[in-house]
Amino acid sequence: MATLRYIGKRKRSRPSERLNGLPANDSTILRPAGGVLHCLPMTIRRALITGITGQDGSYLADLLLEKDYEVHGMVRRSSTENFERIAHLTHRVTLHQADLLDQLSIVDLLKKVRPQEIYNLAAQSFVPTSWVQPVLTGEFTALGVTRMLDAIRLVDPEVRFYQASSSEMFGKVLETPQTEKTPFYPRSPYGVAKAYGHFITVNYRESYNLFAASGILFNHESPRRGKEFVTRKISHAVAQIKLGLAKELRLGNLDAERDWGYAGDYVRAMWMMLQQPKADDFVIATGESHSVRQFCEIAFSHVGLDWRKHVAVDETFLRPAEVEKLRGDSSKARRVLGWKPEASFDALVRMMVDADLKRCAHS
Ligand code: NAP
Ligand code: GDD
Repeated sequence: MATLRYIGKRKRSRPSERLNGLPANDSTILRPAGGVLHCLPMTIRRALITGITGQDGSYLADLLLEKDYEVHGMVRRSSTENFERIAHLTHRVTLHQADLLDQLSIVDLLKKVRPQEIYNLAAQSFVPTSWVQPVLTGEFTALGVTRMLDAIRLVDPEVRFYQASSSEMFGKVLETPQTEKTPFYPRSPYGVAKAYGHFITVNYRESYNLFAASGILFNHESPRRGKEFVTRKISHAVAQIKLGLAKELRLGNLDAERDWGYAGDYVRAMWMMLQQPKADDFVIATGESHSVRQFCEIAFSHVGLDWRKHVAVDETFLRPAEVEKLRGDSSKARRVLGWKPEASFDALVRMMVDADLKRCAHS
């Protein structure tokens, strides 16, 4: 029997035409090793990413495309398009409008796309905003997970589901380093919402036998990180100060410590979790923690500047309740998934500063 290999899909429509769903003819073209073309029903893997316009969504889309997945992204409607992070791949993914707040939109989306894997990355992910909009944060970040899981139960309980859980759930940590067994003590409405999202994922796995995995990811950063998060705020300010476009950087708690890794390494772990024989929970972390101050030292010194001359502490950036220190133990992921981070902390800081220098110099 001839072996078939995937050589491509039929010509794609423009992204704007695809926004409202898949085009009518959704067959995949396969060519036998010998050369004759056959049109067969879809045999390649199809994934749906919620939050595809975010940092992780964009890296995950890159990874899945590399692995020859057909990638679909859920995007919410806004008055202006927010596709900067996926601009390089909009012609290779299919975008659909739906919202975590709208159950019917999620059910319809699953019926239309029929993914085998769903990565639920969409969330209100900025911790300070969760005190300003606690109810909305709960709606997106907590109940949004239940909406997605219920849609899976209704449409296709065979789907493999990944939930983006967070080290923020450990909050006021009860042990160090934190593992899958460390109890949660969240310190923000965001952390509370993520704890709900984690437990509902575990509960639907146990109640309905869904393949529902929860990745407890520690902070991960990249040049695509939003500018409100501390690492990117620093790398962007360093570039601006170096180029003479700014003089000062105002920050909150310089003593806070995080276990910072590189987002590209962390999306690999998400994919690995969905390739396992059974769904489980995994901590993903580097095992090292560094302070905000250390991040500043490395970032400024990378461009020959002394951070102490440019950084000022501004109390407006302090939080009502702080997570002082996080450090994860990812030995389970290393053992079971074979995952390990590739990028070091120093390399991550330098990568972010270099990217911002390039971007600021060009604009
Ligand atoms: P991000 O850059 O803030 O991206 C969040 C994404 O969610 C965006 O695409 C956003 O769309 C989308 N979104 C928000 N509300 C939505 C709604 N109601 N309906 C549909 N989409 C919505 O976050 P990230 O850093 O990539 O993180 C990805 C996920 O991992 C999040 O769930 C986050 O909480 C979690 N997490 C992140 C880290 C980390 O260090 N990065 C660590 C642990 C867990 P718009 O573009 O329209 O805003
Ligand atoms: N954002 C910000 N801005 N944080 C600051 C600042 C500042 O000016 N100054 C000090 N910090 C400190 C914060 O108080 C916090 O302790 C630490 O820097 C990291 O803040 P963020 O970069 O905003 O990240 P986060 O740890 O609160 O949350 C991120 O990581 C979580 C995983 O632990 C987000 O990506 C969450 O979505 C994610 O779940």
